[in-house]
Amino acid sequence: MADAEIGVIGGSGFYSFLDDVTEITVDTPYGRPSDSLFLGEIAGRSVAFLPRHGRGHHLPPHGINYRANLWALRSVGVRQVLGPCAVGGLRPEYGPGTLLVPDQLVDRTKSRVQSYFDGIPRPDGSVPHVVHLTFADPYCPAGRQAALAAARGRDWEPVDGGTLVVIEGPRFSTRAESRWHAAQGWSVVGMTGHPEAVLARELSLCYTSLTLVTDLDAGTETGEGVSHEEVLKVFGENISRLREVLFDTVAALPATTERACLCTDAHQGWDLGIDLP
Ligand code: ADE
Repeated sequence: MADAEIGVIGGSGFYSFLDDVTEITVDTPYGRPSDSLFLGEIAGRSVAFLPRHGRGHHLPPHGINYRANLWALRSVGVRQVLGPCAVGGLRPEYGPGTLLVPDQLVDRTKSRVQSYFDGIPRPDGSVPHVVHLTFADPYCPAGRQAALAAARGRDWEPVDGGTLVVIEGPRFSTRAESRWHAAQGWSVVGMTGHPEAVLARELSLCYTSLTLVTDLDAGTETGEGVSHEEVLKVFGENISRLREVLFDTVAALPATTERACLCTDAHQGWDLGIDLP
């Protein structure tokens, strides 16, 4: 019997999610995840919550053990993951408080391990093979629809689709970088959406990103330059409605056995060389 079927990875300012929880520590072949897993229930669905930056926010975006986080969630039974995160808006109309559910991702990170399939032998003697997965559509279509419907149900008109560009951080973008991101047609900028989404795909997990705009990035017309205080303040102001939307999204996700999206068949015949948990 799985401990949890749905995982929620909370972002900046999001360190607790469920009221009545069982805390468990999980170790993985990749080391420790960001924190304990907090297990609870929403509308009869079993949920594992993991604060991405650790309680109290001690892990910077480039210091997060993304592989351990996704592995830990899968090892307790999770098959669908919701990844809320704070982002900057790259268009004036995507101001603070905008909820955007992206359908595309651009990776501009530099230092992060972004695959389980690195060919490096593991302590148990198994060797992950080289695997090239399809990632044209990085997000789960069913999860996206559930999130969009949940937001609308709470009178929070979401932006349906757009491109999340993920920068290395921990600094924010220069104005020139920000203008360049906007000129590419990208929608929002964050620091944690990658490699979370691709690692989820490698583990055949459905992954849905819910981005909450906390600021207009430096290159937008009125963007003054971003501060961490501003990000945390706006995230804090929106956290209760984001929590409601996440609750409703969890309730609307398909049952694990009824997932009909491509995420479930990500490996398409590849010989992985390792057993997934
Ligand atoms: N997270 C929140 N706001 C951000 C911004 N402007 N750039 C990168 N990450 C962010």
